[in-house]
Amino acid sequence: MENKLLQPLKLGNYTLKNRVFMAPMTRNRATRPGDLPNETIATYYQQRASAGLIITEATHVSPSGVGYIGVPGIWNTDQVEAWKKVTAGVHAQGGRIFMQIFHAGRMSHPYFLQGAAPFAPSAVAANWTVGILDYHENLIQVPAGTPKAMLSEDIEQVKADFLRAADHAFLAGFDGVEVHGANGYLLEQFLNPHLNLREDAYGGSIQNRSRLLLEITQAIAEKHGKGKVGVRFSPFGKLHDQVAYSEALVRDTYYYLAQALQELDIAYLHLFNQGAFGTAEVPVDFFPAMRAKFRNTLIINGGYSISTGEAAIEAQAADAIAFGRYFISNPDLPARIAQGKDLAELDTATFYTGGARGYIDYPALSR
Ligand SMILES: Cc1cc2nc3c(=O)[nH]c(=O)nc-3n(C[C@H](O)[C@H](O)[C@H](O)COP(=O)(O)O)c2cc1C
Repeated sequence: MENKLLQPLKLGNYTLKNRVFMAPMTRNRATRPGDLPNETIATYYQQRASAGLIITEATHVSPSGVGYIGVPGIWNTDQVEAWKKVTAGVHAQGGRIFMQIFHAGRMSHPYFLQGAAPFAPSAVAANWTVGILDYHENLIQVPAGTPKAMLSEDIEQVKADFLRAADHAFLAGFDGVEVHGANGYLLEQFLNPHLNLREDAYGGSIQNRSRLLLEITQAIAEKHGKGKVGVRFSPFGKLHDQVAYSEALVRDTYYYLAQALQELDIAYLHLFNQGAFGTAEVPVDFFPAMRAKFRNTLIINGGYSISTGEAAIEAQAADAIAFGRYFISNPDLPARIAQGKDLAELDTATFYTGGARGYIDYPALSR
């Protein structure tokens, strides 16, 4: 019997060849200056085009949203041109690829912002470090900058930046975009009641804290088609100093979001259980409860093996599984699943180091 992960799946207007999705993964290989994808990045994604869907590494929507060295951007035409090589390579192999778009918010530093303070809902600094380059171009870790509480015009600017990023992603040939509402970046900072202390329409109630993410998602869906937009969340996550809040409020926040996204009728919801990284585990009934509220495609992620992933599909707990680390060392993961082959070992030391090693040198199975 064929593995359930290998069944085709409809997503928006697309028919995907399997349910083995590649999770978004930052690999810090972009060319500087310019924050441009390059030949190496194009090769990396092309090697992984047998995934049912590739979701790219988080990509900065604007200069004000930058928080990392070597992470690509999608705010200018040079970047659009450079990304065209990536999408063409994946499409040439019959693959589909969405771009994950993000704004780092307070997970940044004036180093990246011509000396300005990072944007955040409120002036609450992250108890975390960010990597910047010293005078010798060595990467050093420094405390995240103290952010400024965004003004109304900053919020309007960020909305426009996300929409432009989506415009550019479609110009560059992407099949869709994933709005990054996870992992402690700007949009999740707005969701969190300890990081968002605003008293305007973007803070306070669940509806207000959710407003920025929903307005951005709606604007992209209306302009480019609701079947071409997904959203990622990491409920209960602690990454990047997300401050925990009560389980009841987490549930109410994400249930509200799931319902609102269902009303927008977007292509998918993508849930990451950060328990896979040793931070707070998601209660076992939580993803099923989200599925009841969001009935379009549900992608789940975080620590799934081939067998637990298949079991989740079989039980209809989700429509697709996003695999992160497996896809780093197994570029042809679906073929390995089909043939029941062992998975290759992973070198964690080369996750973020730049260059080809540990990036495009993991071989596919020999035929
Ligand atoms: C090297 C690395 C980079 C990552 N970068 C991102 C990212 O850019 N955006 C994101 O949403 N998640 C990111 N993640 C999280 C993964 O998408 C995924 O949630 C995580 O690896 C758990 O899935 P897994 O157990 O299948 O690896 C990253 C994970 C790794 C290992």
